[in-house]
Amino acid sequence: MKKLRVGVLASGRGSNLQAIIDASEKGDIPAEVAVVVSDNARAMALDRAREHGIPAVHIHPPYYKSKEEYERRIVLELREYGVGLVCLAGYMRLVGKVLLEEFPNRIMNIHPALLPSFKGLHAQRQAVEYGVRFSGCTVHFVDEGMDSGPIILQAVVPVRQEDGEDDLSARILEQEHIIYPEAVRLFAEGRLRVEGRKVVILREEE
Ligand code: GRF
Repeated sequence: MKKLRVGVLASGRGSNLQAIIDASEKGDIPAEVAVVVSDNARAMALDRAREHGIPAVHIHPPYYKSKEEYERRIVLELREYGVGLVCLAGYMRLVGKVLLEEFPNRIMNIHPALLPSFKGLHAQRQAVEYGVRFSGCTVHFVDEGMDSGPIILQAVVPVRQEDGEDDLSARILEQEHIIYPEAVRLFAEGRLRVEGRKVVILREEE
């Protein structure tokens, strides 16, 4: 089977990027990371890409007149590398209409909470402060809203009484590294169908 070419957008640490690279290098998923794009020149994600011989591109938003122009530059890069799926992995910007129109239902994000709870920044801190007993993480398709698109996979993580933000974040991150590559695998196998708000996971072909 021809491998799906994935483009990853990341702004920072890049541990989810690493999980996807590792799964692809191990042959666990029929996909490969074709390019990593970051809005932050110092993102560790760019170093991780280079270590694996993956093109690492920094695109500096202030150089562009508008968000549309900035995103058009990203699209050029993604096209250049024949990307069929875009994964946001700690990408700290809202995706705009240029990217969404170029990749309809082909952009995924991972969020460190059980959506639709605790959208936005510091989701783990929000969960600790709210006092929920369970939180987790969500992989979803990206739409024009913030953390609002159709849900692909979720994992539940218990919140312990003594947890601070960092404890919970670490426990959730372990699950992120499992479900993100899994969602990419399902996509690469052509097994995700978006029906309105919902994502149907098709059975594996026998
Ligand atoms: C993760 O917690 C992810 O859920 C959120 O941003 C963080 C990125 O971490 N969207 P990393 O850069 O993948 O290590």
